[in-house]
Amino acid sequence: MNTGFDIAIIGGGVIGLALGRALLAAKLRVIIIDAGADIPAATNAAAGMLAPSFEMGQRTGEALYRFSAASLSLWPEFSREVEDAASLSMDYRDDGILGVALDEPQWQELRTRYSDLEGRGAKVEMLSGDEARGLEPALSSNIAGALFAPFDAQVDPRKLLLALRAAFLKSGGMFSSERVSHIKRARNIYVLSISSGAQIEADKIVIASGAATLSKLLVEIVCDLPPPPVRPVKGEAVALDMGDMQVRHVVRAPGAYICPKAGARMIIGATEIESHESLDVDPSAIAGLIRNGERAVSGIAKMREMERWAGLRPATPDGAPILGRYSDGPDDVFLALGHHRNGILLAPASAKALAAEITGNQAGQSPALTLKPFSPDRFQGAAER
Ligand code: GLY
Repeated sequence: MNTGFDIAIIGGGVIGLALGRALLAAKLRVIIIDAGADIPAATNAAAGMLAPSFEMGQRTGEALYRFSAASLSLWPEFSREVEDAASLSMDYRDDGILGVALDEPQWQELRTRYSDLEGRGAKVEMLSGDEARGLEPALSSNIAGALFAPFDAQVDPRKLLLALRAAFLKSGGMFSSERVSHIKRARNIYVLSISSGAQIEADKIVIASGAATLSKLLVEIVCDLPPPPVRPVKGEAVALDMGDMQVRHVVRAPGAYICPKAGARMIIGATEIESHESLDVDPSAIAGLIRNGERAVSGIAKMREMERWAGLRPATPDGAPILGRYSDGPDDVFLALGHHRNGILLAPASAKALAAEITGNQAGQSPALTLKPFSPDRFQGAAER
């Protein structure tokens, strides 16, 4: 046994931290190595929707829908445990999410989604414009109708990161704010060199560093396999001061989603710009989000701006995450990448399922948490083995 760690997780976003906690619970010695501002976590840029009813479509397939629904059901306990361990709130809210239509074609789109969700056994409702306004009085008189998903939820992503990190540290985890510059295998352990010049030893490693090029490089170095097809998809968002206005639900409108948070903060997101590594924010994109938001909730255009930002979602070709190990690769290197638009939603399920795979203790795991559909092998032409 090495004198260092059982597991080193590279990447301290919501996925790395949630997994770190799950591994600590299995009594492993865990270090998370996170490059901080050098590679900002996608979590920091997110709006925090836990929205399988709206984020999962036919393109993403049944397995991902089941996995995300299972993850949503883990959220109440996950948030409670992290908040208790950290003594910090993450502003988890289970008021449900409203998808609104402004015209007939949008209403038809929502109806199609409704039928699809009903077919999958989800509890969702179609509401008239008046019924939607009865539920969320802030909705504008333009709203023709809505799809209400009462069990979809939301959380504050930055509070979540702070709480997760505090909970991880309080449970005995180590956190290093450095960049990994090199990894080598020596005497059956991995030796990770970090930017300060120090070295960290671990028996196993998990690569959870999101859309960063670093993720691909590390996979090439330690697995000697082609890098996983994770690409950045930039998202721009803005936070506004709601003042006295009361908005309780997340509202998903055409061209913008509106997420009310504690302290009169409202996040409006988000653009989707393919393979864009820069974090510049385009003023016309923000103006577009505000314009689209205003159509659903009047008053948004007059709100004071608090902040605008951009983040990089780690996307994969089939929209599903990459979780587990390559069957042709080393048996002590695991990937937790490519959660695209849904890292926060999927964090409890990804952490639970991957921790079970890493520790070899899959007893009691529900079938909805199988990692088979998310294996990195599916991009190597080896998925059937
Ligand atoms: N989950 C919403 C987004 O990625 O914009």
